[in-house]
Amino acid sequence: MDCISHVPHIGGMRFEDWKIRMKIFLAAYNDNMHRCITEGPIRITKTIKVNDQDVVVDKELEEMSTEEIKPSNLHKVGIFIMTRALDNDRFDKVKHCKTAKEMLEGKVALITGGASGIGECTAKLFSQHGAKVAIADIHDELGHSVTNSIGPSNSTYIHCDVTNENHVKSTIDKIISTYGKLDIMFNNAGISDDRMKPRIMDIEKTDFERVLSINVTGVFLGMKHASRVMVPARGGTIISMAGLASGIGGSATHAYTCSKHAVVGLTRNLAVELGQFGITVNCLSPNALATPLSTKYMGCDDEELEAAMNHIANLKGTTLKAIDVANAALFLASDEAKYVSGQNLFIDGGFGIATSAFKLFKYPQYS
Ligand SMILES: NC(=O)c1ccc[n+]([C@@H]2O[C@H](COP(=O)([O-])OP(=O)(O)OC[C@H]3O[C@@H](n4cnc5c(N)ncnc54)[C@H](O)[C@@H]3O)[C@@H](O)[C@H]2O)c1
Repeated sequence: MDCISHVPHIGGMRFEDWKIRMKIFLAAYNDNMHRCITEGPIRITKTIKVNDQDVVVDKELEEMSTEEIKPSNLHKVGIFIMTRALDNDRFDKVKHCKTAKEMLEGKVALITGGASGIGECTAKLFSQHGAKVAIADIHDELGHSVTNSIGPSNSTYIHCDVTNENHVKSTIDKIISTYGKLDIMFNNAGISDDRMKPRIMDIEKTDFERVLSINVTGVFLGMKHASRVMVPARGGTIISMAGLASGIGGSATHAYTCSKHAVVGLTRNLAVELGQFGITVNCLSPNALATPLSTKYMGCDDEELEAAMNHIANLKGTTLKAIDVANAALFLASDEAKYVSGQNLFIDGGFGIATSAFKLFKYPQYS
């Protein structure tokens, strides 16, 4: 995206005007490209100088693969869209589209467990979309490094053990005193337990209770203190982290499975209680993806975990990443999901609803 600022002129337009339009077009592309811009075949053959290099944008939009639409290539896509718009004066048709930043513009979010894994990824994504983000975690060094990378004007780190009610209460109070409100509460902090002791007869009561205390009591406390400030404000959204184990048996230990089922129960009950105040309550349920939690649990590295999960996945040809979960959280946190409440959104490529037992759908010509 940096290279955009080095493009001097396109079509004789002033650079500042061009930059504003480019932002809108990029957002339009991300959000609504097919709806807003594509009408009939589009082919661009212009060569444009970017960083003193010739960039030839010569493909039809429909031919562009997902690979080519990665952020690192967005300047090319932007030029492509821009040129198309200048050629056809379609700017008016798309200028109503929201920019990416507007998705959480002006909102304040608290993410527990934001120092690592899914929480870290979500914190960065939320801030890219305009939110002020507070990260609550017990890993202070990691937490500070995340807020440093986001930038101190848009984020803050607060030491908070989610099992400690005083910590959770004072964390929310600090957010209110710093930002004046809390719009998004993401109860993401969680732990797994010892995979080597899955049988119920081997589980110690203290180990069982430790998992429930972080994964369930921690979520309950986050919900309770977020509600304390959201109810008088008559608005907000609470998102909690469940997991595939919230919907099926046998994918994780008893304590973990039990804890994630409990998150769904809390989510549904609270959605009913808080609906009268315009507050939405949902949870997310990803399948296993590579993070410190899951690789430690499985005793393997990121690549091994992803290979193992891809092998048993229902949805082939892609790998579940933290950004996929963060994007689902972004949707639930945004006004686009304003009427979604009480839901457990699975991000598992259909794994949880599939059975391979019948092997019904066969395509021998493609195997
Ligand atoms: N990684 C997966 O495969 C997967 C799949 C489904 C659900 N989840 C859930 O996603 C959530 C995030 O996990 P992750 O995979 O990103 O793991 P992670 O270990 O990378 O991150 C978890 C974070 O929670 C923090 N944390 C732990 N205990 C805490 C406490 N008492 N108070 C405050 N913070 C605490 C940790 O310090 C860490 O920063 C968890 O709830 C987990 O159960 C993970």
